[in-house]
Amino acid sequence: MTAATMSLESTSKNQQLVQWVEDVARLCTPDRVHWCDGSPEEYEAMLQLMVLSGVAIRLDPAKRRNSVLVRSHPADVARVEDRTFICSRTRDDAGPTNNWEDPVKMKQKLTELYAGSMAGRTMHVIPYSMGVMGSAIAKIGIEITDSPYVVTSMHIMARVGSRVLELLGENGEFVRGLHSVGAPLGPDEQDSTWPCNMGHKYICHFPETREIWSYGSGYGGNALLGKKCHALRIASVQARDEGWMAEHMLILKLISPSGQVKYMTGAFPSACGKTNLSMLIPTIPGWKVETIGDDIAWMKFGSDGRLHAINPEYGFFGVAPGTSMKSNANAMLTMAKNSIFTNCAMTSGGDIWWEGMTEGKPAELVDWLRRPWTAGSGRKAAHPNARFTTPAKQCPVIAPEWEDPKGVPIDAILFGGRRAGVIPLVIEAFNWQHGTFLGATASSETTAAITGKIGQLRRDPMAMLPFCGYHMGDYFSHWLQMGRLADASQLPKIYYVNWFRQEKGKFLWPGYGDNSRVLKWIFERCDGKVHAKETPIGMLPEAADLDTKGLDIPASALEQLLRVDIEGWLAEAASIREYFAKFGDRLPEGLQLEVKKLDERLRKATP
Ligand code: GTP
Ligand code: SPV
Ligand code: MN
Repeated sequence: MTAATMSLESTSKNQQLVQWVEDVARLCTPDRVHWCDGSPEEYEAMLQLMVLSGVAIRLDPAKRRNSVLVRSHPADVARVEDRTFICSRTRDDAGPTNNWEDPVKMKQKLTELYAGSMAGRTMHVIPYSMGVMGSAIAKIGIEITDSPYVVTSMHIMARVGSRVLELLGENGEFVRGLHSVGAPLGPDEQDSTWPCNMGHKYICHFPETREIWSYGSGYGGNALLGKKCHALRIASVQARDEGWMAEHMLILKLISPSGQVKYMTGAFPSACGKTNLSMLIPTIPGWKVETIGDDIAWMKFGSDGRLHAINPEYGFFGVAPGTSMKSNANAMLTMAKNSIFTNCAMTSGGDIWWEGMTEGKPAELVDWLRRPWTAGSGRKAAHPNARFTTPAKQCPVIAPEWEDPKGVPIDAILFGGRRAGVIPLVIEAFNWQHGTFLGATASSETTAAITGKIGQLRRDPMAMLPFCGYHMGDYFSHWLQMGRLADASQLPKIYYVNWFRQEKGKFLWPGYGDNSRVLKWIFERCDGKVHAKETPIGMLPEAADLDTKGLDIPASALEQLLRVDIEGWLAEAASIREYFAKFGDRLPEGLQLEVKKLDERLRKATP
């Protein structure tokens, strides 16, 4: 297929879809409409367009087959949380943690912006399935976009193509996603290398009508609408209505030396270690991790009464800087071919590079801003939120069951964040309600995955602060309700972990592969094979029960990592109370009770 032989005729029997595509085309006035079939030929045609327009450059195929480097506009490099809106009918349904605008007003404003916004461009219609096509947990979406970068990225990140339209049939339901970079082209106008809109960026969600309208940005979660916009913000609303869970979680399979298996999910905020944990190589002999997913989990109770999770995605959109053969060999091997690299630096040999990829630095590079770069320049060669987009099936440790439509039964749920102080290495919740409390009060220092200040401590409940499509208080109630639906003995156990504890500016815990030592303790707790001590904040490991064989860690560091800092936690409890006040009467009673009990336990423990 060449750009000239793209399918321009509607390939759908779904009248609602055909009508919507016609309406959008009339509004956005593209030169042509392309119905994506998801084929490798289509992928290649899109790459070709990107190379011709200068947005992509092919990497040396001997080093990285069928892969490109893309460099964005320096003002379009991450998710824009202050431009992200939940346009539910009432402000109250969006809740205090989301930006809200009246849906009618927002649609008026955006309709003006979309008018003519695709002039001079092709409008692509991308049918995709989140989850294995036909799985009872999977959902269909259609993204309309004027960005070939989005088409290629969606090919990797979701299951895309004509088969989705077949499944959709005449009357199937789908999430409507409309995306425009907001950069119409005049008849003789030369395209810029990364078209986007400097003045206006909007990432809008209409939860009641399951619609997403995104304008002005071409980057990541702002533009690949199947990911955060659909699989988290819209899906969280569907999940509430239908009795399941859409979560910002990795899914991993942990195998013990005797071949026993446990499945775990983990919710950590953006750039806090999900991808790394999901494919870690244990440093303890005999243990093995396999990957199911690295960013999103959809969970539903199975007929066995257990909570089952699927990964709705098809690829990884991972943080590049810091990824190396030492820190995450499986990610490095996954992206050896068929991958898209965004805002990385380029070597003189036609490969990519980023900070932390190799022990030393190359002498010369072209940086992500396309400028010559030398090792002594003192500048970063790759953007801190540079990313790789790579097919999940290429991961050397992808679990054979990663596409099982039933999902995998979850034994443990982990919450976490970046906390330099107070939060110990691992806490086990007393029960589901207490676990929900730990998740609801999780906090983390902000990272480069979002535009704005880095390193600011904020509460990020269940790592869903930027991704919950409705009132966070109702979301907490939904968590508690899910717990009530199941037999308590069948529910996953809940943990709160912190790999990021610091002393004098240095990490106390080595992290990465050594996190397997904590996973092992959790595994054994799930089997009731190892002791835990009861403390005011939850169940903690005895230092002797944490497998530290072969680990060079001072006893004082371990003591610090497993200590309950009563003063610090009393301050934490006070801050949680203040935080909870935000949710008013929509904060479930169960969580109010948990903060009260925490406070009482801490006061009793005070010497
Ligand atoms: P998103 O894709 O934004 O959702 O990020 P993520 O949660 O998947 O985070 P990722 O695994 O990509 O890690 C982000 C950053 O944290 C990288 O720079 C990692 O090197 C670093 N990191 C990951 N795990 C650890 C760890 O155990 N300890 C320390 N100190 N750093 C870690
Ligand atoms: C995140 O920020 O959590 C990401 C990257 O996974 S993005 O897809 O851009 O949201
Ligand atoms: Mn993420």
